[in-house]
Amino acid sequence: MPKPPTSILIVDDDQIVADSLAAFFTNEGCTARAVYTPHDALAELDATPYQVLLTDLNLPTMTGIDLLRKVKANSPSTAVILLTGYGAIETAVEALRIGAVDFLTKPVVDEELRLALQRALQQHEVLSENATLRTRIATIQATDNTLASIVGTDPRMRHIFETIQAVAASRTTVLMTGESGVGKSLIAGAIHNTSPRAAAPYVELACGSIPETLLESELFGHVKGAFTGAHADKEGKFLAANGGTLFLDEINSASPAMQLKLLRVLQERKFEPVGSNETIEVDVRVVLASNQPLEDLVASGAFRQDLYYRINVVQIEVPPLRDRTADLPALAQHFLDQQSKELGRHFVGFSDEAMQLLKSYPFPGNVRELSNIIERASVLTKGLTITAEDLPPSLRAADTSVPTQTVPSTDDWTPMTLADALKDPERQIILSALIANDWNRTLTAEVLDINRTTLYKKMKSLNIDPDDHAQAG
Ligand SMILES: Nc1ncnc2c1ncn2[C@@H]1O[C@H](COP(=O)(O)OP(=O)(O)OP(=O)(O)O)[C@@H](O)[C@H]1O
Ligand SMILES: [Mg+2]
Repeated sequence: MPKPPTSILIVDDDQIVADSLAAFFTNEGCTARAVYTPHDALAELDATPYQVLLTDLNLPTMTGIDLLRKVKANSPSTAVILLTGYGAIETAVEALRIGAVDFLTKPVVDEELRLALQRALQQHEVLSENATLRTRIATIQATDNTLASIVGTDPRMRHIFETIQAVAASRTTVLMTGESGVGKSLIAGAIHNTSPRAAAPYVELACGSIPETLLESELFGHVKGAFTGAHADKEGKFLAANGGTLFLDEINSASPAMQLKLLRVLQERKFEPVGSNETIEVDVRVVLASNQPLEDLVASGAFRQDLYYRINVVQIEVPPLRDRTADLPALAQHFLDQQSKELGRHFVGFSDEAMQLLKSYPFPGNVRELSNIIERASVLTKGLTITAEDLPPSLRAADTSVPTQTVPSTDDWTPMTLADALKDPERQIILSALIANDWNRTLTAEVLDINRTTLYKKMKSLNIDPDDHAQAG
């Protein structure tokens, strides 16, 4: 490919000088333009990037030095050559210090102009490389900051960070799977924020939450009068996310109708708003999350296989918190630090016993549950260290590190009825079963082989309250 001609902007209030310099550089094969005021020069530079600016030192309304300063601030990669009617050594030194590449004294001979242009082009090249490097560094720093807000050193989490970085620059569809509260939404946001789309919109849509009748309009928008109640044009989520990222959450709960609609738009990135014939094309990066393995849903016929293939390009599986307990102390500290900021208190950390309890708890609600537990503890605690007493009773009851089946000894037996003696173990068994089944009462009753009403009654009499357990919301 032939190199594009060198672009040079010439500023001189003496129009004859400016025009003849422009003619000289045009003759040399450059794209040259002459303007006669510093304001026109700045406006021109704003509109078009020039490689070189050649300016007279003595201009009306603004000196060449001031113009140089402005150009260095606004168009840092434009190389500047100054031109003056008389030699002024101090001004020349000042100009070079600010970043001018050369300082020529009128009348200039052609050879001087050619040499100055060569030097200016060399400087321009270095300056543009610097500018590219600086943007690259800025992007890396932004990526670091975004990823730093996701706590985790577990190898699987580190692999997730690598994947986020690897896919950031592209428009590749990313599917996230993992239990509720593991951090899928957080990661979806990170994918957007580390991508070149970061400045464009990030739009979220929970697929299960839209009533069938509003679905199409929600996704694609509608025009005024498209249906009863459509009083004005409405923009859908796909258009709202144009240029940016659309996060389709809970994709596993998308209805069959929604799945079909999504299939087309994901294939073609095109759609028509409800009531309109106009086809709209969008540039949207789609990130999806499912809190159930989609393969299972495909196998059972609840999820379209073609849609599954379409969205399963890059899959990120976020492991449950109980499978990465090594990350637990750092996560707990992270949430405690957040509380310190929120409450204006300087929490120190956790007592050994509290940390032990946290580590042995299975966290059915994952990171969200941990976050809720820390929030609750930091509000309740009297001191600046979170102790076992500040943790919810469920956590203490579920502690498996304390053996529950101690060999009975006659020494510590206090007379009580069998019913009373059985209360504590019964409470623990029911609580553990509830936690293991994500607080699903039907499943828990089934596992324990009691009926649901009995379970409810026992929960009530044994004082088992789901609200105490900061479960996933
Ligand atoms: N690794 C992590 N580091 C810091 N905070 C985290 C991390 N993972 C999750 N969180 C926090 O935990 C909470 C729950 O995470 P998030 O909402 O992303 O979960 P989710 O997987 O989207 O859950 P759901 O399936 O219910 O939508 C959020 O407040 C999030 O900021
Ligand atoms: Mg979420």
